[in-house]
Amino acid sequence: MNRRRFVTLAGAGAIGLGSPVSRVWAAAGRVAPPVSGALRPLARRHPLRVPDVVSAADLRLVASPATVDIGRGATEAWTLNGALPSPIIRARRGERASILLENDLPESTILHWHGLDVPEAADGHPRLAIAPGDTYQYDFVVEDRAGLYWYHPHTHGRTGAETYKGMAGLIVVEDEEESALGLPSGELDLPIVLQDKRLGDGTSLAYERSMGPDVMYGYLGDTAVANGVIDPTVEVHRTGYRLRLLNASNARVLELGLSNGRPFTLIGTDGGLLQRPVTLDRIMMGTGERADILVDFSSLERGERVYLRSFEFQIPGMMGMMGGRGMAGGGMGRGRGMGRGGMMMGGLPQGAAMDLVEFVASDAPAEAPRTAPAVLSSVPRIQVVEGATRRTFRFKSAMMQHTINGRSFDLERVDVRVPRGQPERWTIENSSGLPHPVHIHVGQFQILARTGGRNRIMPWETGLKDTVLVWPEERVEVGVHFRTHRGLFLLHCHNLEHEDMGMMLNFEVV
Ligand code: C2O
Ligand code: CU
Ligand code: CU
Repeated sequence: MNRRRFVTLAGAGAIGLGSPVSRVWAAAGRVAPPVSGALRPLARRHPLRVPDVVSAADLRLVASPATVDIGRGATEAWTLNGALPSPIIRARRGERASILLENDLPESTILHWHGLDVPEAADGHPRLAIAPGDTYQYDFVVEDRAGLYWYHPHTHGRTGAETYKGMAGLIVVEDEEESALGLPSGELDLPIVLQDKRLGDGTSLAYERSMGPDVMYGYLGDTAVANGVIDPTVEVHRTGYRLRLLNASNARVLELGLSNGRPFTLIGTDGGLLQRPVTLDRIMMGTGERADILVDFSSLERGERVYLRSFEFQIPGMMGMMGGRGMAGGGMGRGRGMGRGGMMMGGLPQGAAMDLVEFVASDAPAEAPRTAPAVLSSVPRIQVVEGATRRTFRFKSAMMQHTINGRSFDLERVDVRVPRGQPERWTIENSSGLPHPVHIHVGQFQILARTGGRNRIMPWETGLKDTVLVWPEERVEVGVHFRTHRGLFLLHCHNLEHEDMGMMLNFEVV
């Protein structure tokens, strides 16, 4: 087994970093997993890249194959404007976005602006996909709060492949309220697209989905990639940083924290800033979710290394299926192993530890960061009245089928009609043994309750959200309010293989 990207658990006791168990974690009634020792720094690390920043006002995005360098060497990727990761699109709230997509790929594609409240024609529904050689013009006004959104393909049955091969980028929306806060900016503001890829010791971004575990669990990788670079490293000043994180993996859930056990401050999630900052030492992010965090590097020694790590975790209900934690610890070759019943498994199992980004403290003098403002924003709450319409969406995975309310996605079928302007109470039920990060298009929702499983709203789920991680046996109730646009939109699992296999439905705002 190749341990380069694993946390070496055996060394944990000896090193004894003794991370404090956070108040939040303790309050959540959950036992914090042991903090493991330092990763053996055997892997060659590559400088983290900062993506190009482009304006939404007049943008042309060309989807095409391109040769890119992912750190370890050249590879063929599917890119937007030839770059990996795709450029960061910057927009001011209230600004008009005009984006021309040109398809130079060998297959159809269409882009979706994840989290933005856009008109039907700009939402990238798979029925709008364009053939090779064609173009699509997007026109919309950015009405959303300041925050971190993102974009990726939404092609029928091919979202997983096209996103995996390299098309995914951040959208940073800014507004007055946020600018007034004086948050870390310039080089102290680091946007990071987190992904895992199945590379083995090579560089190929080929997407070879097997019919077995890849369809069941999703396409799990064996190597951490951030901003398009394998095992990245970045030199940081010893002061406060703003890290804007997106989990753009196809299927991997991340249990994020810092390897030195230090807490960080969560200031925003999917739909922008939180009301107040929250101190955490872990945050769990399903695919599609974002976290805007402040990290204090001022106490590091010169040259000291700290890792943004996804810690090992277990998902109740999955243990039997995955053959328990033994998978990550032994018997598994690099990126491949035998699952239960002798099925070939690809990638590291869900819940395996991975170091995602290395930070190395610079030689410059340390400077204590400003503390985050006590109040960040006034977050508009979605008020759901007593008699509001209720709907239930049951997510089920069985026999290699992923369904919602017993049905697979049909491009043309309208599953639900929702009157515009009336908040509703939707229940998302997970009656399967797998985690489902559930995403609803066209704006943000409010998480109202979670019963079963973790049985509470997590501290990072209090703001506006567009994606919520629903574990086995959980029922999550959300308040939705489609206030602006009419038309056909999507609700789906953001495990991209689940989505491509049909765990998606059309709802029409009428
Ligand atoms: Cu990020 Cu419908 O997707
Ligand atoms: Cu979306
Ligand atoms: Cu799913």
